[in-house]
Amino acid sequence: MSEAQSVIEFRNVTKRFGDVAAVLDNNLSVRAGEFLSILGPSGCGKTTSLRMMAGFEQPTSGEVFLRGQNVTGVPAYRRPVNMVFQHYALFPHLSVADNVSYGLRQRSPKPSRVEIGKAVDEALAMVRLEGYGKRRSYELSGGQQQRVALARALINRPAVLLLDEPLAALDAKLRHDMQIELQNLQRDVGITFLLVTHDQEEALSMSDRVCVMRDGRIEQTGSPRDLYDRPINRYVADFVGKTNFFAGPSRGEILSVRPEMIEIAASVKQLPEGLSARVPVKVLNRIFLGEHTEYRVASDKLGEFMVMAPRKSERLTGVYDIGDMIAAGWRADAERILPEN
Ligand SMILES: Nc1ncnc2c1ncn2[C@@H]1O[C@H](COP(=O)(O)OP(=O)(O)O)[C@@H](O)[C@H]1O
Ligand SMILES: [Mg+2]
Repeated sequence: MSEAQSVIEFRNVTKRFGDVAAVLDNNLSVRAGEFLSILGPSGCGKTTSLRMMAGFEQPTSGEVFLRGQNVTGVPAYRRPVNMVFQHYALFPHLSVADNVSYGLRQRSPKPSRVEIGKAVDEALAMVRLEGYGKRRSYELSGGQQQRVALARALINRPAVLLLDEPLAALDAKLRHDMQIELQNLQRDVGITFLLVTHDQEEALSMSDRVCVMRDGRIEQTGSPRDLYDRPINRYVADFVGKTNFFAGPSRGEILSVRPEMIEIAASVKQLPEGLSARVPVKVLNRIFLGEHTEYRVASDKLGEFMVMAPRKSERLTGVYDIGDMIAAGWRADAERILPEN
């Protein structure tokens, strides 16, 4: 990609803290207007990456470009692209309007009261909290507080909004609602969103592209579907979605088969035609997940693996019990041969 199209670019960026390489030789290009997530376990270098993009940390080596301009070594306040970190904690004693306008009121010259009022109304409208300006933050639900925090960041009209684990503190239901809200919001405002998370569901559901990190390195960057269907190695396949690994055709390789690609039936004969693998299996465990049933099964030949049986198929196949001897199989195109590392 050319520099002009990317709003942020890392070229061979490394950041060391003493002996720790928090970020190691990363190349990444963030496109203007996209929703990009950095996904990886705790300690893999996500926050450090964001802080270097914003200019709060400087790389030990490598270069950072913003809209094609080399800004390596330039501190945050002198950078040519307005990047805002979303901060989640609100001031509890301030009204929603005062929380949202906090950044504007710190500016010099300070905008007029009318200007501030208008900007607050616009920002609250963006997060669908019109009319909430006079409330105190403790009078709001968790989801509303999250939206106020977003409005407080958006009022600065950033080119890039940096979100570091924004939904981590929310319960599962609210997190799911906020995932949809964030995605809609990003489409509406057209601001580049850069979100950091250790939660794969969050990254996959919201993002245009996901960058998977491990131990300071970027393993793979791609659309959620690319990562899911074409992971480059075992780590990415394992981190993005659930999968089964079997012995591969040669050393250092494994075979990955997603559990939803595996068919089950009462016997090998009753499996559908055209499957490349067909084995008798014993049901070890069964978890009802609503739209799916997750089975853990064991085969003499392949060992233990997981199968996701959709509710719909249960009408044909029935529900199997723990201890049942049944059969499992999959089509050749469900197989991915991947390097171990
Ligand atoms: N200011 C710092 N001083 C020393 N080590 C740090 C500092 N910031 C981060 N690290 C280390 O760098 C690694 C990556 O940290 P971080 O970027 O915060 O990871 P993540 O956000 O993915 O959890 C960790 O090993 C962490 O302990
Ligand atoms: Mg972090």
